Amino acid sequence: MLNKNTNSKRFLDKVVLVTGGAQGIGAATVEAFASEGARIVIADIQDEKGEALAAQLREQGVQAIYVHADCTRSADVENMVQRTVQEFGALHVAANVLGGGHRSDVMGNTVHNTSEEAFDGTMAISLRSCWLSMKYEVLHMMNNGGGAIVNCSSMAAVSVEPHAPMSYGLAKAGVNLLTRHGAVEYGQYGIRVNAIMPNTTATPLLRSMFDEQQISAMVEAQQAIPRAIEASEQADAIVWLASEQAAMITGHILPVDGGRNAYGSLGPSRSSAIKTAHD
Ligand SMILES: NC(=O)c1ccc[n+]([C@@H]2O[C@H](COP(=O)([O-])OP(=O)(O)OC[C@H]3O[C@@H](n4cnc5c(N)ncnc54)[C@H](O)[C@@H]3O)[C@@H](O)[C@H]2O)c1
Repeated sequence: MLNKNTNSKRFLDKVVLVTGGAQGIGAATVEAFASEGARIVIADIQDEKGEALAAQLREQGVQAIYVHADCTRSADVENMVQRTVQEFGALHVAANVLGGGHRSDVMGNTVHNTSEEAFDGTMAISLRSCWLSMKYEVLHMMNNGGGAIVNCSSMAAVSVEPHAPMSYGLAKAGVNLLTRHGAVEYGQYGIRVNAIMPNTTATPLLRSMFDEQQISAMVEAQQAIPRAIEASEQADAIVWLASEQAAMITGHILPVDGGRNAYGSLGPSRSSAIKTAHD
């Protein structure tokens, strides 16, 4: 993994914090930034996995630490940013990747049958965590020459998603507006804020919810490129948005979706009576 893009090193010595960095898209993001020369802080609640990933990076010569942070809790988030600065003297890039639904918030939860516990729990994991992370990240970046933040939204933010609970899409819609707020409010301080919107991505989260057959059916029904997206492909988009190549891009919400967005608001046709260009 670390051999990828070794010549470019776009983040040489930059300090990069990744929330939810112990697995899935977060771990792929950690590896992608590390391969570009960054110093890495992995923040997560899975201590064993996070410590193991940090240790693996150190063995490969990367400066990396793991910090336990439940990003729904402000004290943990404040400490996460403080530890980053204590350890490496700066915070240049933050990838706020963590998200998901509360354990009681399941597929099929609608407006009327979502419990308050499920709603509040999902909002905390997918929206409050992102807001709290941004709050402490910009507080540092504003006074230290700026930086780049990339949030992780979801295609569930822009339309009703049959296989996601209602409050998950709602929280991610909040992440999109939070991203725009960040871009507008902190552009003057040299801080760029963008987000990616993943569609079906092969991660432990996805595999805990769906089997391979269900994943295939989902991507065939939704995406122009009918395969699950790799976590590393989401990470590549995050790295690019954080890089100097995207220096004038801020407030942008980038679908990384295998072409799902290209179908527009009506989505792909499910009618077998309509022939495709290949028929
Ligand atoms: N996988 C997909 O198909 C998909 C699609 C759309 C959006 N997303 C979004 O992408 C992001 C990453 O998803 P993933 O599939 O890699 O998920 P994942 O569950 O595989 O990984 C999420 C990581 O976040 C950590 N985490 C969870 N709650 C936390 C908390 N309170 N504090 C700190 N860390 C916490 C977990 O321990 C885990 O390491 C999420 O924001 C998710 O909503 C994923």
